Amino acid sequence: MAGGEASSSESLTVDMNSRSRAALKRVAARGSVGAQDGPGIVLKKHGAKLRRLRDDREEEVILLGAACSEVFTGPRLARVLRPAFEQQKHAMECLERDEAWEPLAIHTSAGVPRALADFVESIAVHLPWSRESDWFLNLQLDGSTAVWAGVEALASLRASEASNASTECYLGIAEHSYHGARTTALGQPALPRWANAPRTVGQVPYPVPPAEAATSQQAQEEYLENFEAFLAKNKQIGIFIFEPQWGSSLLGRIWPAELLRKVISLCHAKNRSVLCDEIMCGLGRHGQNNSLFLSTAWDLDPDGLTFGKAIASGTFPLSGIAIRSGAKALLSSGTKVTQSHTYSGASALAYLTATQVLKEVPAWFKNIQELSKLVREILGPLEAQGFFCLHGQGLLWGGHLLKGAEDLKRLKQYCQREAVWPYFVESPNAGFMISPAYDISEEHLRDGLRRLARALEALRSE
Ligand SMILES: Cc1ncc(COP(=O)(O)O)c(C=O)c1O
Repeated sequence: MAGGEASSSESLTVDMNSRSRAALKRVAARGSVGAQDGPGIVLKKHGAKLRRLRDDREEEVILLGAACSEVFTGPRLARVLRPAFEQQKHAMECLERDEAWEPLAIHTSAGVPRALADFVESIAVHLPWSRESDWFLNLQLDGSTAVWAGVEALASLRASEASNASTECYLGIAEHSYHGARTTALGQPALPRWANAPRTVGQVPYPVPPAEAATSQQAQEEYLENFEAFLAKNKQIGIFIFEPQWGSSLLGRIWPAELLRKVISLCHAKNRSVLCDEIMCGLGRHGQNNSLFLSTAWDLDPDGLTFGKAIASGTFPLSGIAIRSGAKALLSSGTKVTQSHTYSGASALAYLTATQVLKEVPAWFKNIQELSKLVREILGPLEAQGFFCLHGQGLLWGGHLLKGAEDLKRLKQYCQREAVWPYFVESPNAGFMISPAYDISEEHLRDGLRRLARALEALRSE
């Protein structure tokens, strides 16, 4: 009997796996439809260990990063998900008894969930400006629309000032940047929205500081001079967007803090607005100064600040833009926000979870700083061999493979052999990123980094 049960559950798994494989062939997810070389289907997770179905077989890998899309696992994740779970349970009981129930999500035209209040109060304490200013939020589901919402809000505020009312507003976007899907979001280099589409105008790429600026005062001064000349030449740019620490577009590179502060001051002095996109590096991942946002840690003084990704634990989609001031100005000019859609900022479950995440994350600031040291300790000696550059801080790191795509292909194979999975980046620069959950155990992180180091070593000694 027991044997019979085992074999029927085994055949159920085999059946499930073959159905999963068939489904995968029907879906375009970050690649060509039907391509079998993607990350596959995730079956189970435990800590940083990920069990998945890939290339027709089940495998277990150590997940070193998934585009900053998770901050907690295990009991910590359970803790932040608990209020949403209780609300769902209660809602189910009421629904089944046909009683009045508190909705789990509300279409934006009917109202907003009650859980919004706790979320707004929880995020307010982390914003880089005074809580007394008339700051406001526009809440969205994904990061790219949060950036668009920020652009719209800042452009509307600029247009409401008499001196800017009739001036065209272009956007200054870093020549290497990522603010969402390359076809529909902002970011450089950008792709046309569809094959052979005419290019949209309005994004003006600004140069990023050279890598030497991280250590050379002279390189910083030269960059600042060039940036000032760029401002003078591009008067049509009304809003600049900065990633204080880059994500995939520059593989975890960090703006030198003092330089970015000066660049932002220069923008303000020349009447330009500034949006810091912290969708990748925010939420404490940067590990600086016990702050949720780098803008706060580095005193950057942006006019707008985006957040997203794992703010609702990666289980519920939630993102948004916080704008430093101007709520009253928009109200008195009767300007409505148009960047909104059916379920933007509509999920009670997302707010309940995000409130818990915002309460829990500060308890992990120290852990982020401590674990950060392991990355340099284990990968640093390999970087010295000159075939890749390591950038990063906190729990957001990247390795730029200097020989590009061919090395990336080989590295993926070596990582597969070592059963480790960083976040692989193909373009514009080939490399990998490390962005684990904040509660990754030291043992898992060490093990994962050692496996990655062995894969890099194999690549180097080819
Ligand atoms: C800095 C930055 N902005 C925006 C986005 C877009 O977020 P989403 O993928 O949720 O649209 C990303 C995604 O990686 C990002 O790294």
